[in-house]
Amino acid sequence: MKWLILFCLVFFVYLDVSSQNFTNISVKASPDAEKCMNYKVNLSGTGGYANTIKDLENIEKTLENININATISISFGNIVALLFIPTAPFKSVTLHASDSQAGLKNVSNTTVSVELPEELNLGPTNMIVFSNLKLPETNKSDPGALFEVYDRRMIILSVKGKNISGLRQPVNITMKFNQNIIQTQRPSCHFLNFSTNNFSTDGCHTIWTHDQSNVTCSCDHFTYFGVLMVSASSGGDAVLSKKDMEILSYITIIGCSFSLVALVITVLLFITNRTLREDLSMNIHINLVIALILLNLHFLPSQAVAAHPSTWLCFYMALALHYSLLATFTWMALEGFHLYLLLVKIFNISVSRYIFKLSVVGWGVPAVIVSVVVIIDRSFYGHVLLDKSNHDDTKICYISNEIVKVVTTTGLFTMVFLFNMTMFMVTVKRVLNVGYNKEV
Ligand SMILES: *[C@@H]1O[C@H](CO)[C@@H](O)[C@H](O)[C@H]1NC(C)=O
Ligand SMILES: *[C@@H]1O[C@H](CO)[C@@H](O)[C@H](O)[C@H]1NC(C)=O
Ligand SMILES: *[C@@H]1O[C@H](CO)[C@@H](O)[C@H](O)[C@H]1NC(C)=O
Ligand SMILES: *[C@@H]1O[C@H](CO)[C@@H](O)[C@H](O)[C@H]1NC(C)=O
Ligand SMILES: *[C@@H]1O[C@H](CO)[C@@H](O)[C@H](O)[C@H]1NC(C)=O
Ligand SMILES: *[C@@H]1O[C@H](CO)[C@@H](O)[C@H](O)[C@H]1NC(C)=O
Ligand SMILES: *[C@@H]1O[C@H](CO)[C@@H](O)[C@H](O)[C@H]1NC(C)=O
Ligand SMILES: *[C@@H]1O[C@H](CO)[C@@H](O)[C@H](O)[C@H]1NC(C)=O
Ligand SMILES: *[C@@H]1O[C@H](CO)[C@@H](O)[C@H](O)[C@H]1NC(C)=O
Ligand SMILES: *[C@@H]1O[C@H](CO)[C@@H](O)[C@H](O)[C@H]1NC(C)=O
Ligand SMILES: *[C@@H]1O[C@H](CO)[C@@H](O)[C@H](O)[C@H]1NC(C)=O
Ligand SMILES: *[C@@H]1O[C@H](CO)[C@@H](O)[C@H](O)[C@H]1NC(C)=O
Repeated sequence: MKWLILFCLVFFVYLDVSSQNFTNISVKASPDAEKCMNYKVNLSGTGGYANTIKDLENIEKTLENININATISISFGNIVALLFIPTAPFKSVTLHASDSQAGLKNVSNTTVSVELPEELNLGPTNMIVFSNLKLPETNKSDPGALFEVYDRRMIILSVKGKNISGLRQPVNITMKFNQNIIQTQRPSCHFLNFSTNNFSTDGCHTIWTHDQSNVTCSCDHFTYFGVLMVSASSGGDAVLSKKDMEILSYITIIGCSFSLVALVITVLLFITNRTLREDLSMNIHINLVIALILLNLHFLPSQAVAAHPSTWLCFYMALALHYSLLATFTWMALEGFHLYLLLVKIFNISVSRYIFKLSVVGWGVPAVIVSVVVIIDRSFYGHVLLDKSNHDDTKICYISNEIVKVVTTTGLFTMVFLFNMTMFMVTVKRVLNVGYNKEV
């Protein structure tokens, strides 16, 4: 069966070689040819990580086993390949590939190009296999690192019957991005080591800067297991390691717990002490304290709740977290307002039902904002990745829409900050004037 399939593949390749220029041929897979390929080249994407690796290895072996004596390019399914027979003496050469064709010359819409150094010193007996392939779409919930591969693109580069390593002048593989990568992501070149079935960066160097629309992988080897990929995440110094993340999350939990205990003690003191309760300023402080307690209470179990499958619980947590954060901001603004009244209007607060009116603003404004968000789209509240660049998928329940998050939280915070700065300056001015006049 294996031989039949191989024959089939070679047969169709030859069919095209005979009719066109060897350097620029793409086999337009006829219905029959497609069937042939699908037998041998099985890249269904189902069956998980291990099977996909096996499929990749098979594709590479199949390509290496195609028997030709002149350079050809073929394409079938999601796979584009160039089988390059160099001429002696070997010169530095660049191979190009787009999603639909591969060639020695400039192909239109090039997505990948490979610079081969002169020191490879290959001859007509060495066939270079270069392939640009896209992994099929698969379900994200399947396990396996293959889901991190940028654009699902993989590059096969190998020399038939020769293991290339320890190059002094590295081979450069440049890949174009067809969409902007997220700010927090950083590409990293990996190759697939078929003897461990694992990805590795050994001997490969990633050349990339933030404003660049392509990434170059500079490797000192490419052996027959040389599948290269760009992961748009993991590794790199800008991304927090898992261990750091864990430490930070413990620090957060400990800090928030202390804060929570102190806040609760404050509330208890307030409740039990009559003179405190009658103080106007204390009433405002206690509202801020309650808002902070709510914030801590909903933030602390956030990761645990996000791990729970219930979407309703997560919705509630996200909404409550958002609400208490907004309430904290509004009460901070009211503190500033109160201070202004105290010092500028000089201890003369005669607004009737003062605390009640403040409470309506302090607890009402956040409620209005949260309600508007819910009315627009309830799904704005839900599971959110804590750190998008990190694929350890630590999730919390919060606002999933970036715009809503920025407008409601950062927007409100900015307003509160400016308001309080103004209040502060007015108050300071007032106090200075008072001091100068020695009236008080
Ligand atoms: C085939 O390629 C050679 C050089 O590689 C070129 O001289 C020739 O014109 C090409 N033939 C066609 C039909 O394009
Ligand atoms: C290479 O292929 C493209 C498209 O498949 C075609 O337009 C072009 O004429 C070909 N070039 C040669 C030299 O055969
Ligand atoms: C192709 O792979 C899928 C999943 O790995 C498997 O179910 C199927 O049997 C394979 N087909 C062949 C011809 O190997
Ligand atoms: C190599 O090409 C020549 C013609 O260019 C052909 O006669 C010969 O059969 C080919 N050899 C193989 C192994 O395909
Ligand atoms: C190669 O292709 C790119 C984009 O397709 C184009 O801008 C460039 O001019 C081409 N270069 C040559 C030498 O044809
Ligand atoms: C190259 O890309 C442009 C725009 O994405 C598209 O219009 C054009 O058809 C592509 N060319 C080829 C040969 O695929
Ligand atoms: C690959 O890039 C490196 C650094 O930019 C350069 O030193 C090297 O010569 C390049 N290799 C080839 C084959 O051009
Ligand atoms: C992915 O898998 C999950 C469960 O494992 C399933 O609910 C979902 O429908 C699948 N999605 C696709 C696109 O197959
Ligand atoms: C290349 O390396 C592989 C695995 O390390 C080995 O099995 C194979 O024999 C080597 N090939 C040559 C030509 O050295
Ligand atoms: C692939 O993994 C094997 C086993 O760990 C190791 O000996 C080999 O050096 C690795 N290959 C490369 C190119 O790093
Ligand atoms: C693959 O490599 C990662 C780290 O690079 C390691 O955590 C994992 O255990 C390795 N898997 C296998 C099967 O060796
Ligand atoms: C990669 O991108 C940079 C800037 O975006 C550009 O200067 C460079 O020519 C590109 N390299 C390739 C091989 O396309």
